[in-house]
Amino acid sequence: MQHILQLIYLISSVTFILGLKFLGNPATARKGNLIAAGGMILAIFGTIFLYTTEGGEHLGNLGFIFGGLIVGTVIGWMIAKKVKMTAMPQMVSFFNGMGGACAALISVIEFRHHVELEGFSNIQTGTLITIFAGLIIGTVSFTGSIIAYGKLEEKIKDFSLPAGQYINMALLLSLIGLSAMMISGNIANTEMFYVIILLAVAYGVLFVFPIGGADMPVVISLLNSFTGVAAACGGFLYGNNVMLIGGILVGSAGTLLTVVMCKSMNRSLTNVLIGNFGGGAKTGAAATSTTFVGSIKEVTKSDAAIMMKYAKKVIIVPGYGLAVAQAQHVVHELEELLEKNDVTVKYAIHPVAGRMPGHMNVLLAESNVSYDKLVEMEEINPEFATTDVVLVIGANDVVNPAAKTDPSSPIYGMPILDVENAASVIVMKRSMKAGYAGIENELFYKPKTSMLFGDAKKSLSELVSEIKSLS
Ligand code: TAP
Repeated sequence: MQHILQLIYLISSVTFILGLKFLGNPATARKGNLIAAGGMILAIFGTIFLYTTEGGEHLGNLGFIFGGLIVGTVIGWMIAKKVKMTAMPQMVSFFNGMGGACAALISVIEFRHHVELEGFSNIQTGTLITIFAGLIIGTVSFTGSIIAYGKLEEKIKDFSLPAGQYINMALLLSLIGLSAMMISGNIANTEMFYVIILLAVAYGVLFVFPIGGADMPVVISLLNSFTGVAAACGGFLYGNNVMLIGGILVGSAGTLLTVVMCKSMNRSLTNVLIGNFGGGAKTGAAATSTTFVGSIKEVTKSDAAIMMKYAKKVIIVPGYGLAVAQAQHVVHELEELLEKNDVTVKYAIHPVAGRMPGHMNVLLAESNVSYDKLVEMEEINPEFATTDVVLVIGANDVVNPAAKTDPSSPIYGMPILDVENAASVIVMKRSMKAGYAGIENELFYKPKTSMLFGDAKKSLSELVSEIKSLS
């Protein structure tokens, strides 16, 4: 029986790896998700029905196990069905927090179990290290993720204590110090275990509280990797390979995603965690006012329609504003209309356009834009030089030339879309307000650029009508 279970674990582990591989491409992401979920179901039911203890006993408490499975499945299903695409980061954060809580609970239960069974002083050092690591990392991930969820849902405001960084550092050092003393046997009082839980709860809360709301995707990805590591600790404790591999995969994928996001924004993780960049107050109206050479030029919808209808090639640059306006369906309508008029249309996808990884891909997939029209930054950049019109929709930072020209800019060094190389650029946004980075954009003052002010969805609908009226 145990051999069959190990084989099931191996198959499940392979499905996790395949799932991750497929998730790397929008065309196969859905399949990847299903494959990995299938592997997880296999591992869960394999454990329930085939796992036996050394004494040959099967798992007990099946009523509780199935009760939990049913309640969890129904709640998870309902939340995931209802969630809006723009609320995806908070849902991921919430589910991630639950994973962290589960990993921490495993440590609590195993600690009590080992204390009762063999007495605190007889627990092996390796077991204690794993229990404490799972407890602290899982608890921080749980509380941090719940705070991140609350902030993204706008239920919790940014808040930082005076000298908050020092308090956090003191909490972290206390957590490590107290755990090390318990593991080494210098503290024999098992009540201290519960003090460590409280300190980890406080650390998770205070660590995420001051981080700017717009930096949350990076923090969520980091907390996701924490949950993976905490789950891997559970795998170590139970000698369960699939839990170990699954945890390590989540931990490493989360870490890689965090690094990729930071790199694409040209920011260090330290800067995200303690820099307070991009916090709500810094964006929008509070943007810095820089003086640029040139002036703002507006374009009317009918002129924009003529420019696009008679172009050979149009590249659309979607950004955060497209998601805010929920203009994904009408932009697809515009694309189809232009293609009917023999205009080649492509979408330029910047790696951090929007507010979460793959935001633009997910958004455009919702309106059935063909995947082969979504072109990544490196590939599309050389194409701008042969493009007649670039239509920037609710994007700002990802087309800001300051990233290349102004070493004092917070986004200096971030790779951007080279839209200026096109014959003309039309920018759709509601005002001259800044984007996430809180800085002005010289692109808007360039002679080739014209602004089309208004809500992206409304402006696009009007543009579509204008183009239709030209036919
Ligand atoms: P932003 O630079 O944030 O600019 C979005 C623009 O959309 C704003 O300037 C806003 O101008 C406009 N807008 C908002 N609502 C609109 C509406 N209803 N209709 C039309 N326009 C609207 O967006 P971006 O260019 O996509 O850049 C993304 C930024 O987020 C980057 O700085 C990136 O580093 C950061 N970030 C990304 C991620 C990931 S993983 N994607 C994670 C964290 C941070 P108005 O207010 O004038 O309309």
